[in-house]
Amino acid sequence: MKTPVHIAVTGAAGQISYSLLFRLAAGALLGYDQPIVLHLLEITPGMSALQGVVMELKDCAFPLLHRIEVTDDPKVAFKNVDYAFLVGARPRGPGMERKDLLEVNAEIFAVQGKALNDVASRKVKVLVTGNPANTNALIALSNAPDLKPENFSAMTRLDHNRALSQLAEKCGVLPVDVKNMTVWGNHSTTQYPDIHHAKVKGQDALSLVDNDWYVNEFIPVVQQRGAEIIKARGQSSAASAANAAIGQMKTWALGTEPGDWVSMAVLSDGHYGIESGLVYSFPVTVVDGEVNVVRGLEINDFSRQRMRITEAELKEERDAVKHLLR
Ligand code: NAI
Repeated sequence: MKTPVHIAVTGAAGQISYSLLFRLAAGALLGYDQPIVLHLLEITPGMSALQGVVMELKDCAFPLLHRIEVTDDPKVAFKNVDYAFLVGARPRGPGMERKDLLEVNAEIFAVQGKALNDVASRKVKVLVTGNPANTNALIALSNAPDLKPENFSAMTRLDHNRALSQLAEKCGVLPVDVKNMTVWGNHSTTQYPDIHHAKVKGQDALSLVDNDWYVNEFIPVVQQRGAEIIKARGQSSAASAANAAIGQMKTWALGTEPGDWVSMAVLSDGHYGIESGLVYSFPVTVVDGEVNVVRGLEINDFSRQRMRITEAELKEERDAVKHLLR
């Protein structure tokens, strides 16, 4: 039998985790022959709810789930972990400004970055889902000087999946028939879902849909999807977010399909003229666990303008938490 891999999940008593943990325990990340140990982190007031989740996990009698560790201490949670899903974050409370939200979350991710730095496996893959995800990932990686920036990414897979699904529906095909979709920038309403390079059953996507639909329907629908779900469900997307987290981590571990790419927010080193030092979503391929930004895509003026808008928002976010960046 394979040696168990160690997977940390923060915010383990929250909504997303309620979907994520059961799929991880069932083997959805690395296959149905890979045993796992779950390391679950919550804040102290969440520990009682987390005990309930642990009882349910045990009651599933998952064959692959070898052990569950539960803690409110990041240094215990991240000890020797191979994969870390940073899901837990403070939601926006009444009267809280965006800046306050950024700041309180930045502090959480500074602490978690330091803990990962001190105790996680040197090969750990850290996926930040908790919002503001891109900037939280930036804080975490900058507080983990002994790990590489390549150990960190922020989640834009949900946006990517939403874009695949919208375009597939419009063209009357399955999402799997759509390739080379790109979401640029921030996981926020400024993100830029770009179909200029996308292919639908091998044909250029833009030759199959009219530009008005692309600009005035597709882009805003993908950008605003999160808010629409809250309006309809009364709660933010959880199962689709968990699915995206598994999808992004799985691609990171096992690689992209030949000829295709995915969107992933990683530290920019100036790709496509995007300022270095921002965690920005790019089209990437993954081979042997190594993430490479797809090079050389042609960017027209329309795209360039959209990419700049979301870059500007990320610069503002970074500036608001500068004091926590090393
Ligand atoms: P939730 O509020 O149901 O759960 C969050 C959990 O995190 C709570 O149980 C809370 O106690 C815990 N938590 C808070 N601070 C913590 C800390 N310092 N350490 C450990 N745990 C902590 O929220 P939900 O719905 O599970 O969403 C989690 C995050 O994911 C939110 O920030 C949400 O905005 C974000 N999100 C991101 C998406 C993306 O595409 N990047 C998509 C959907 C949600």
